[in-house]
Amino acid sequence: DMAHLGLYGLGTMGSALALNILDNGFPLAVSNRTDQVARDFARESGDLGEKLTTYDDLTAMIKGMSAPRAIIAMVPASAIDDVIADMIPHLDKGDTIIDAGNTDYTDTIRRTKELEEKGLSFIGMGVSGGEDGARHGPSIMVGGTPDAWEGMRPVIEAIAADYEGTPCAAHLGPDGAGHFVKTVHNGIEYADMELIAEIYGLMRYGGGMSPAAIGEQFTSWNDGRLASFLIEITGKILAYDWKGGPAVDRILDSAGQKGTGRWTVIEAIKLGSHASAIEAAVGGRVLSALKEERQTGEATFGAMRDAIDLDLATYEKAFLAARIIAYAQGFDILKIASEENGWDLDHARIAEIWRAGCIIRSALLDDISEAFRSDDLPHGRLLFAPSFTDLLTNGTDAMRTLVCAATGAGHPIPAFSAALSWFDGFRQSRGTADLIQAQRDFFGRHGFVDLNGNTDQHGPWWD
Ligand code: 6PG
Repeated sequence: DMAHLGLYGLGTMGSALALNILDNGFPLAVSNRTDQVARDFARESGDLGEKLTTYDDLTAMIKGMSAPRAIIAMVPASAIDDVIADMIPHLDKGDTIIDAGNTDYTDTIRRTKELEEKGLSFIGMGVSGGEDGARHGPSIMVGGTPDAWEGMRPVIEAIAADYEGTPCAAHLGPDGAGHFVKTVHNGIEYADMELIAEIYGLMRYGGGMSPAAIGEQFTSWNDGRLASFLIEITGKILAYDWKGGPAVDRILDSAGQKGTGRWTVIEAIKLGSHASAIEAAVGGRVLSALKEERQTGEATFGAMRDAIDLDLATYEKAFLAARIIAYAQGFDILKIASEENGWDLDHARIAEIWRAGCIIRSALLDDISEAFRSDDLPHGRLLFAPSFTDLLTNGTDAMRTLVCAATGAGHPIPAFSAALSWFDGFRQSRGTADLIQAQRDFFGRHGFVDLNGNTDQHGPWWD
């Protein structure tokens, strides 16, 4: 019995996903760029290998499968065009290619068009949850035609994470919608990770706490409103001793990034959205990678990281508010992108499929999905959800205490301060852009709108 479903790319994520598919009882064909990897996979799949057919290369796999075929490609974003080009000559009309990697959604839109012209269908599928998620149930964000979705739905829903009986997988819209939502998921992931790292830095270098003690604090927070995967693993990481000291101290303080955080910021700016906490997180990673420059900076200006004394409740409240703001910024991007692209994204459903399986899964997402389900969400923005008003009012006071203390003592906290200024900007009905408009008019006769709504007005400077 020849498989209809294939998977190409048996790296960490690809093999985990393949085992998950087999575990759910679907016959599966697999292959890899190097045949040895595929053979190793076949050997290691053990009892799950019963419904597995392994091929030496992609072409052999496609020829060995029966139509209609659905082939999941789990390869780096840079390789996907070549993989598709290799597949095309061997596919039949009605076959489907699924790109399960982290892909720029504009590429997904282009590929969908190119493949549809050839009678093939294409699914851009965001998969979150790291290796463990891929193996035991990731969160899956799907973009594609309704037909393509219905064809793949049984497999996708079976392999996805389960949240109280509902699969964390959804068809979110056409072509690039799934990859776009996955990108924004990662942008929020970047912001959440940066906020956690900033708290860690303040407790450690300002509060003089040991990594182990900070880890205990994170672990206890994980029992409360901050409960989330990232808080949980941070508690675990900080508890580790390794090579004679805290494990974190053995790691170079220079962060990598493969692109999705940056794409989120680029898209936010293109759409005219303002995702300052996510931008701060991307910028924080950029700065972290400038290790030598930072050494020069410390030698030139001196390291200023004075002691601060904040109570643990302040950290907890500040983090919760900042996390809400990071989510709010992410959902704002989704809202504008949805309007621009005519996607009609279901924000509540997106929050729901992020509740299990993915990296940003958190208790807060329950409240977020409810906020989006409610009829009472001014401007469609999470910031104004009535259920968050008290939390944000009190929590941003804690953020203010934190930002003042940290800034005064010379601790960099780009994500906290950006999130707080963003919030403060939203709470002023009259800001300072009157002066920006006056300057634009003064130097370039750009005109402004007056307080009665009259457009193309000019100031007295031209009289
Ligand atoms: C996930 C992760 C995963 C991965 C990304 C981001 O949702 O499972 O986001 O996709 O961690 O590649 O990683 P970088 O930090 O390398 O950009």
